[in-house]
Amino acid sequence: MSKRPVIIDCDPGHDDAIALLIALASDELDVKGITTVGGNNKVEKTTINALKVLELTGMTHIPVAVGRSNPLMKEIRVADDVHGESGMDGPELKEPAIKPVELSAVEFIAKVVEESEEKVTLVAVGPFTNIGVFLLSYPQLHEKIECISVMGGGYLEGNRTAVAEFNIWQDPEAARVVMRSGIPVLLHGLDVTHKALIKKEEFSIFRNEKGPIFQFVADLLDFYSICYTGERKLEGCPMHDSCAVANLIDPTLFKGESAVIDIELDGEITRGACIIDLRPKERRPVEDNGKVIFDVDRKRFLDLIIESCRKLESRLSNAQ
Ligand code: RIB
Ligand code: CA
Repeated sequence: MSKRPVIIDCDPGHDDAIALLIALASDELDVKGITTVGGNNKVEKTTINALKVLELTGMTHIPVAVGRSNPLMKEIRVADDVHGESGMDGPELKEPAIKPVELSAVEFIAKVVEESEEKVTLVAVGPFTNIGVFLLSYPQLHEKIECISVMGGGYLEGNRTAVAEFNIWQDPEAARVVMRSGIPVLLHGLDVTHKALIKKEEFSIFRNEKGPIFQFVADLLDFYSICYTGERKLEGCPMHDSCAVANLIDPTLFKGESAVIDIELDGEITRGACIIDLRPKERRPVEDNGKVIFDVDRKRFLDLIIESCRKLESRLSNAQ
């Protein structure tokens, strides 16, 4: 079976970095490129972090294109309270020698999609700004997008406000462009990502394994857990972004429902809310535009992350 061509738009970001590892290790995905966006931190920092992950894994042939610094309508509000000053605090990786390509993220996505013989899947695990601008700028290319697998939103949960999740809260206008594009959306909101945990007692699985990839993940988890198991009292670290990648690799890991998904823009206290209509189909205002993921087989999901690290470690050893 041929590999699925994907472009991953991200804001590394601890969980973005682990999602990149899964994608880079996968035999099912053909990562055509990584685009970076302002979100967890400024785009200059999220770009450096993406380049660091590529150098760590030896996958330096994969292009990185720099995207938008700010959301469409407002200034960026970074999540340094979660991801630290660098956007990926904890691991100590050297400054990357590799550089991004000249094209902007939006130009890069358009070029890859235009030149691809197959439809391309877009993965959005940061604010959807780049994806939104691409969709607005290249309507003629929509037919060549297979689907858009996103981390964002939530049916019953918010994290930046009671009703808004960070990626959508950061750029609700871009998120609405995605939801109303007519391209099928796979939505991995907090309902499932807060179940997709690496539990505190499982951190040692990574710490106890030799090799730079396992140690990188262990360092990521140690820092990321300050927020999640510390302040927010979760049982572990939610692998938010890995859900949007893992579902493309093994859909049997997840369960979800078809729905109408839209984004609140103007509510005084509800701006950025992801509105998911699960009423009986005949009562929904429009045709379903996506599938909302609610459940994950956590054990098999964790196994995928571990197996991905093993594959990357053996690639590095074989390359030596
Ligand atoms: O709300 C979680 C999302 O916000 C994840 O994508 C995380 O990386 C941050 O970007
Ligand atoms: Ca992210």
